[in-house]
Amino acid sequence: MSNYHIKHLEEYYQVYRKSIREPENFWEEIAEEHFMWRKKWDKVLSWDFSKPEVKWFEGAQLNITENCIDRHLATRGDKTAILFEPNNPDEEAEHITYSQLHQRVCKFANVLKSQGVKKGDRVCIYLPMIPELAISVLACARIGAIHSVVFAGFSSSALATRINDSDCKMVITSDGSYRGSKTIDLKGIVDDALEDCQGVNSVLVAKRIHSEIEMKAGRDHWLQPLLDDASDVCKAEIMNAEDPLFILYTSGSTGKPKGMVHTTAGYMVYTAYTFKNVFQYREKDVYWCTADIGWITGHSYIVYGPLCNGATSVMFEGVPSYPDFGRFWEIVEKHKVNQFYTAPTAIRALAKEGVDHLEKHDLTSLKVLGTVGEPINEEAWHWYDDNVGKKKSPIVDTWWQTETGGIMISPIPFVTPTKPTYATLPFIGIQPALMDENGQEIKGNQVDGRLCVKFPWPSMARTIWGNHQRYKDTYFSAFENKYFTGDGALRDEVGYYRITGRVDDVIIVSGHNLGTAPIEDAINEHPAVAESAIVGFPHDIKGNALYGYVTLKETGESRDQNNLRKEINQLITEQIGPIAKLDKIQFTAGLPKTRSGKIMRRILRKIACKDTSNLGDTSTLLNPEIVQGIMDEAL
Ligand code: PRX
Repeated sequence: MSNYHIKHLEEYYQVYRKSIREPENFWEEIAEEHFMWRKKWDKVLSWDFSKPEVKWFEGAQLNITENCIDRHLATRGDKTAILFEPNNPDEEAEHITYSQLHQRVCKFANVLKSQGVKKGDRVCIYLPMIPELAISVLACARIGAIHSVVFAGFSSSALATRINDSDCKMVITSDGSYRGSKTIDLKGIVDDALEDCQGVNSVLVAKRIHSEIEMKAGRDHWLQPLLDDASDVCKAEIMNAEDPLFILYTSGSTGKPKGMVHTTAGYMVYTAYTFKNVFQYREKDVYWCTADIGWITGHSYIVYGPLCNGATSVMFEGVPSYPDFGRFWEIVEKHKVNQFYTAPTAIRALAKEGVDHLEKHDLTSLKVLGTVGEPINEEAWHWYDDNVGKKKSPIVDTWWQTETGGIMISPIPFVTPTKPTYATLPFIGIQPALMDENGQEIKGNQVDGRLCVKFPWPSMARTIWGNHQRYKDTYFSAFENKYFTGDGALRDEVGYYRITGRVDDVIIVSGHNLGTAPIEDAINEHPAVAESAIVGFPHDIKGNALYGYVTLKETGESRDQNNLRKEINQLITEQIGPIAKLDKIQFTAGLPKTRSGKIMRRILRKIACKDTSNLGDTSTLLNPEIVQGIMDEAL
């Protein structure tokens, strides 16, 4: 019997040791006993971080949807797979059973086929959090098409970049979306994006808000009539273990977004195994992850991980503040949620509202609380523990990334003693390393450094779509023979990890990764702007907010600064989306630069954080005199 479900700390250490000493035997046992294969593998693992190349379960054949759906039909056909909670609390929740999910995914898969989508084609999904989102993801996987979900808060220009980068031939969207009291014209955004996307020949449109929209003849199709006509029988395409399952874009510190490519077998095994253990999911539990399926958390821990385990996974369309800040707790009570997984930014926003909302609801169903996406501050951790978990539900602070596919460092609830702000111990099979700036591994405890991983794990991204060199440069070049995460971390006296934050130019705002370069590029397009630099500064709710230093061309200097600020944020909204708007914009005469012309963000960051007592050595700057002026006028 393999160690699929870990229940004690000693067992954790024992299984962990085994997973490190004999990784191939370990993962082979897990894969063998808990999944459905059309053909077993010839080789469990081959890897070479210098290329880099990683293959898990090579030679195996499978379809992930048979693992997520078909194999549950006999025993869990009537169990709810997806529990959809709409934006409007007066609209009824929808319980989609495993049998219904099977039917709906098969029908959708047949619609994709009828539109000419084939194995290996890329399909862009730009949908709100409605059942069609999860169903279309699974329908793509059913026929071997590679889904590329784009979060439906991105602008048309960001959407177009992503559609073109992976050469998608179809877009799946809706007539619009609800977000609290607002509606958003998603189809209009898609229409704008497609002006620049020649490769898309069909658009499927789900009806959600019943608005009047334009349908382009020959290209756009309402989804429902196609589904009505489609057969509910669709044989699963047999996929190779290393065939791509999906592409998901993440921001880099420079350049365009990176299309991280995840493959089939390893991703399935690892997300399923982590889900089972990190949430200690049991058969009758109701599990809720509040993320959007547009992000990796939703892919791995709303769709694939839970469904692989035959779980009931709640999918919530709305926002925590609508109709009021009690909405999350109302949903927990209504559906008797047992595991609740959210982000620190949401916890901080809810904490700010006090405990009145919490007290109105019965939260006794909760057993495990999770957090992900950014470091959780001590205050938020305690608020969550005291008021939501009533000190009885362990908090799993899960550290991982789009690139890692699954949870990498996290407590196992009721197994690993928790410690506020610490993600605690590496998950089974994960070998973290802390590195110093000279490329040496820092051994021992009570140390801090750059967080790397020294051995492959099954769900790691295999490449960046269309740019393997960039994959190598970004993740495998900073430290020899190691995957570099871009994060800093410290290890305490018992070996627990605490993630301290990004060490590159990625800033996490409200849990969303934002690269500074694309935002600066957007600002620099303003005709009055000469140059700009973005840094992060602490924000009570968002964790970090963005501070922009902008220098103007001579022509811009007479302009009204408040108008300029509005125009700059408008440009950012158009190019990226509202999540990347700047909280503060300071106009400066110049930016501090090194002699080689590089902007010294370290200094700008300190000024934005009002931490100017020790700016470090400024004598190497090309223009040290500029710094005092920036400090004097800081916002
Ligand atoms: O900096 C880390 C932070 O989020 C980054 C990954 O972001 P993304 O690819 O969008 O994936 C987020 C959801 C998995 C990491 O490099 N991060 C994520 N989880 C934590 C975290 N920082 C501290 N603690 C966490 N639990």
